[in-house]
Amino acid sequence: MSESEGIDPRRYRAVVTGAAGFIGSHLVEALLEHGHEVVGIDAFTSSYPAALKRSNIAAASAHPCFDLLPADLNELDLEEVLRPGDVIFHLGGQPGVRASWGKDFADYTRANVDATQRVLEAARARQAARIVFASSSSVYGEAPLPMREDGPLHPVSPYGVTKLTAELLGLVYWKAFALPVVPLRFFTVYGPRQRPDMAFNRFIDAIAQGTPIVVFGDGSQRRDFTYVGDVVTALLAAAADGEPGQPINVGGGSTVTVAQSIAIIERLVGRKALIERRPAPPGDARDTQAATDRLHALGAIPRVGIEDGLAQQVDWQLRSMPRLLSSAIVVGGEATHRAGRGSAPRILLYSHDTYGLGHLRRNTTIAHGLLQRTPDLEVTLLTGSPVAEQWPFPDGVSIVRLPPVTKVGPEEYQPVAARSMSAVRAERAGMIASTLLRLRPDVFLVDHAPLGMKGELRLALEMAREELPGTRVVLGLRDIVDEPEVVRATWSTQGVYQAMETAYHQIIVYGSRELFDAASEYDIPEAVRRRVQFSGYIAKDRGLEQSVNGRKTWTQARRAGDRRVLVMGGGGGDAAPMLLAAIEAWESLRYLLNGEAVIVVGPLMAPADRREVERRARQVAGIQVIHSSTTMLSLVAAADLVVSMGGYNSVVEAVAARKPLVICPRTAPRREQLMRAEIMARLGLAQVARLDGEGDAAARIADAMVAALKAGPPPERAWRAIDLRGTERVADLLLEMTEPVSVQVAA
Ligand code: NAD
Ligand code: UGA
Repeated sequence: MSESEGIDPRRYRAVVTGAAGFIGSHLVEALLEHGHEVVGIDAFTSSYPAALKRSNIAAASAHPCFDLLPADLNELDLEEVLRPGDVIFHLGGQPGVRASWGKDFADYTRANVDATQRVLEAARARQAARIVFASSSSVYGEAPLPMREDGPLHPVSPYGVTKLTAELLGLVYWKAFALPVVPLRFFTVYGPRQRPDMAFNRFIDAIAQGTPIVVFGDGSQRRDFTYVGDVVTALLAAAADGEPGQPINVGGGSTVTVAQSIAIIERLVGRKALIERRPAPPGDARDTQAATDRLHALGAIPRVGIEDGLAQQVDWQLRSMPRLLSSAIVVGGEATHRAGRGSAPRILLYSHDTYGLGHLRRNTTIAHGLLQRTPDLEVTLLTGSPVAEQWPFPDGVSIVRLPPVTKVGPEEYQPVAARSMSAVRAERAGMIASTLLRLRPDVFLVDHAPLGMKGELRLALEMAREELPGTRVVLGLRDIVDEPEVVRATWSTQGVYQAMETAYHQIIVYGSRELFDAASEYDIPEAVRRRVQFSGYIAKDRGLEQSVNGRKTWTQARRAGDRRVLVMGGGGGDAAPMLLAAIEAWESLRYLLNGEAVIVVGPLMAPADRREVERRARQVAGIQVIHSSTTMLSLVAAADLVVSMGGYNSVVEAVAARKPLVICPRTAPRREQLMRAEIMARLGLAQVARLDGEGDAAARIADAMVAALKAGPPPERAWRAIDLRGTERVADLLLEMTEPVSVQVAA
C-alpha cells in the first residue's frame, strides 16, 4: 500500500501517548517485543489512581529500548520529542462515557481535543510517518447495528463528542497536509489492567469482595466487548497498513449483554453477584456492534472470545488486587529487605547538579568512599552536571548523565543545550525512574533536593515505594541549606516534609548536630526525626586525586618568609567578584607579603569573567591563574593560607588540611555560605570577609588574610571540634543497608 511507504513494519520508532494507561501500556510492551524503539508519554493524570498507571508501565520502563516521558501533552514541546519518520500512537486522553457530563467536561476537551490538536501540529512539523489515533465506538451513539464506519455518527455523550471532534481534526490534517492519520474506533475494551471505572473491573472487584454491583437498566444492553490483545494487534496492523483518512472499527470479538457477562464473571470468580439495579444513565448507547469488514481487510481479526478474555482479566485482577490495595503503605522507619540475589550490592546516587559543583563533589567522594570499602559494589551516579563528561570520577563508578539544566533564579531553570525545558524535564524524570527500575538498587541515595529539580524525582520515588520493596531510599542533606525560616517555608509549599515522611527510609545530614542541628532548625517532623542521622563532614579523600604533587603548581622558587596563598573560586559560577577582590587584596599586601598566589577560578566561570580575572591577575606580580585543578587537595596541603568562598567542599577541604582560612561567603540568593562561614569563625577555624555591605571588600579580605596568617593553623582543640569522618560513616551506613534484613513496614 502506497501510504505505508517509508514505514518498515519490522522496525520503527514508536511514540505512544497515554503509555501508562490500560491500552497504552499493553501496546508499549508489544512494540518492545517486536523490537521497536519506543517513547512513551503519559501525564499520570488523576482520572484514576496514578499508582495503577505506574504499575502498568513499571516493567516496560526497565526495558533498554523504552524512554518514558512523564509529561502532559498540553504542555510538552512535542516537536522536540518527535523525529521524522516516527509512528505515533495517540492514545492519551480522558476516557469514560458516563462521567463526561457536568463540570469536568473541561478535562475532556483539554485531553481529547486540545491535546490531539497539539499532537497533530507537532506530527505535521516533524513529518511523522503515521498517526494511529484511538477513537471510540462512542462516536456512533445510537446507530443502526452493526455500526459501519461510513454510517451515521450521532454521539450521545459529551465524551463521544470530543472523540468525534478529535477524529475529525485528524481527518482535516490528512486532507489539508496529507498527514497520514488512521483513526481506530475501539469498542469497549477489556482485559488485564482495565480501567477501574469500567464495568468488568467493577464487577470483578465487587463480586470477589462480596459487595453489590450496579447494573444499569435490565442488563440486556449489548456491547461488542473487545479483548485488549486484539486491540493491540489492530494498532500494530494499522501502523503498518492502515489507510490514512479511513476510520476502522476495532470490535467484533464478542457481542454479549451485560447480564451474560456478569454470569461469566460469577462462574470465574466462583461467587454470585449481588445486584443493585439503577436506571440507564444518560450518555450510554443502548447497544454497540462493530461492522468488521475493514478490520478484516487489515488482517487484524479478533481472536479472543469473551470467556477466555474475561478469564485473563479475572486472573490478573484477583492476583493484583491485594498488592494494589496495599500500595497505601507508608514507608516505615526500621528496615526493608534486600532483593534476594547473589550479585554484588548496588547503590544508585542522584544529584541534580543544576548549580555549582558542590553536589557532584560530595557524591563523587561518597562513591569513592563506598568503593574503597567494598570494591565489588556496583555504584551508579545520576548527575545533571554540565561538566560530568570531563569530571574525574573514580574507577568503578558508572555515570548516567541527565541533560543538564542551570539554575537561573529561585525555582527557575534553563536547559544548557538549546532545548525546551518541558522536554528536558520529562526526559530527566523518565531517565531517573527508568534507571532506578532497571538497576533495582539496594540503596537509592538522593542528594540534597528531596523531590529533585522541579519535582523531577516524584515519579521515581513513587515507583521505588510501590515497585521496589527491596530498595532503601535515603536522603543526603548538606548540613546547611539556607536560613531556617526560608527553608521551612519552601519545604512546606513544595511538599518536602510529606516526601520525607512517605518516601525516605532514612535521612543523613552531612554535618554535625552540635554545630548546626538541621533536624530542629528546619523543623523536620518528629516522626521523621528518628530516621535522621548526622554523619559528620564529607571530606574528600586523598586517594581520589591523581598522584601529582600539587607543590609543582607553585612555580616560584620559595625563599625564606615566602607565603603560598591558594584562592579558590569553588565551581566558579559566581566567583569573579570574590577573585577580583582577592587579587586586589594580594596587591595591597605586597609590601608585607612575599611569595605567590594561585587562583583556581573553577570550571563553571563564564568565559568573559574568567578573562577579566586573568587580565587583572596579569597586572599584579606573583599571581598564577588556573582554570580548575584535579589536585586540589595537594594544592591545599602545600598552601600557607587558603582564601575561598563558603561552599561546603572548599571549606571542608581547607579545614581538613588545618590551614589558616579566609572565607568570603556568598550571601545571596541563599545565606548558606554565610551561615557556614560564621560557624567556622566561631570555632576559630576561619576568618570571615564579607563581600557585601559597606566599604571596600578587598580591604576586608586583606585584613582577614593578615589576621589568618598571624593566627596560624587552627589550634588542636578547635580543630578537633569538627568531625571530618563523614565519608567513612556514610559509606558504612549505606553498606549496612545493603545487608539482607527482615521486612518491617508500618501499615
Ligand atoms: P486510560 O485512561 O487507561 O489511558 C489514557 C492515558 O492517557 C492515561 O494513562 C492518562 O494519564 C493519559 N493522559 C490523559 N491525558 C493526558 C495528557 N494531557 N497528556 C499525557 N497523557 C495523558 O484509558 P484507556 O482505556 O487505555 O484508553 C486509551 C485511549 O483509548 C483513550 O483515548 C480512550 O478514549 C480510547 N478508548 C478506550 C476504550 C476502552 O474501552 N478502554 C474504548 C474506546 C476508546
Ligand atoms: C467504554 C469505555 O469506557 C469508553 O472509554 C469507550 O470510549 C467506550 O467503551 C467505547 O467503546 O467507545 P462503556 O461501553 O460504557 O465505555 O464501557 P463499560 O464501562 O465497560 O460499560 C459496559 C456496559 O456496562 C455499559 O452498558 C454500562 O452501562 C454497563 N455498566 C457499567 C453497568 O451496568 N454498571 C456499571 O457499574 C458500569
